[in-house]
Amino acid sequence: MRVLITGSNGQLGSEIRELSRSYNMVNFIFKDLPDLDICNFDELQNFIIKNNITAVINCAAYTAVDKAEEDEQIAKKVNSEGVSNIVKALQKVNGKLIHISTDYVFDGDQAIPYKESDPVNPTGVYGETKRAGELAVINGNIDALVIRTSWLYSSYGNNFVKTMLRLGREKETLDVISDQSGTPTYAKDLAKTCLKILCGDSSENISKNGKLYHYSNEGVTSWYDFAKEIMKLGEVHCKVHPIETKDYPTLAKRPQYSVLDKSKIKTDFKLEIPYWKDSLKDCMIKIKTNS
Ligand SMILES: NC(=O)c1ccc[n+]([C@@H]2O[C@H](COP(=O)([O-])OP(=O)(O)OC[C@H]3O[C@@H](n4cnc5c(N)ncnc54)[C@H](OP(=O)(O)O)[C@@H]3O)[C@@H](O)[C@H]2O)c1
Repeated sequence: MRVLITGSNGQLGSEIRELSRSYNMVNFIFKDLPDLDICNFDELQNFIIKNNITAVINCAAYTAVDKAEEDEQIAKKVNSEGVSNIVKALQKVNGKLIHISTDYVFDGDQAIPYKESDPVNPTGVYGETKRAGELAVINGNIDALVIRTSWLYSSYGNNFVKTMLRLGREKETLDVISDQSGTPTYAKDLAKTCLKILCGDSSENISKNGKLYHYSNEGVTSWYDFAKEIMKLGEVHCKVHPIETKDYPTLAKRPQYSVLDKSKIKTDFKLEIPYWKDSLKDCMIKIKTNS
């Protein structure tokens, strides 16, 4: 098995790189910009054919949610056309794909966890372009999965956890939104899941029960409670104040509630998903060790 990881220098790609060392039977090839651009179809297809790639985990994405409102063309190119290029290139070699999408395809008006079958209604450009990417995979004629995840963080890259730690050390108080609920996801847990699904039994058809899945850590929280837990575990003495979404205007509208129902992925792939506070603890230990 020869697995290409696109966007490999991001949070998820970096976690996969670290875990890949314990998969001796699999050949991993890690690529990111500027070496391999998923928006360049010819370059991508040649690379996949020349390197006998049998599967791709697509970690490449345009993830700047607010900036996407002003950069619609680039967001669309990466999150929609880039994904379509991967699907087309894999069709030629009969390769498998794991593609990652987002809870931001939902409008957040629901009050119970979102299932894969619930209707989507993205409220911003990022969500719209990610939805278009999902459709490229779902309608493509390859063995592929779309895994939607939420509130991703890692010891790699920039994310809410690292921003809170930095701001918490700089300031005495911090205002954080308390009326948006969701579930944080440690990118390491998602990386483990992708590798388990793809490399667990390579002979199996990964999409035998449909292409769409939801994955986050277990539990539900708000950005405010998430921030408080980060301060507690990081031993940062900054007072966190709850504020409402209306008091923190952003370019992109975010879903008020975006908890994902993970029953399908847990059953189909026999997964045990860690509780978000336990995974956060693991990540914080790693951040502390690295600093
Ligand atoms: N972050 C979240 O909170 C979150 C939540 C839900 C879902 N997701 C989804 O989870 C997946 C992984 O997210 P992440 O946080 O690991 O993303 P990330 O850290 O932003 O990494 C994305 C990587 O893709 C690269 N990239 C951008 N355009 C590319 C192109 N045209 N060709 C090849 N590589 C390109 C980026 O390079 P540059 O940095 O140079 O642009 C970056 O290294 C994404 O699909 C994202 O939409 C993320």
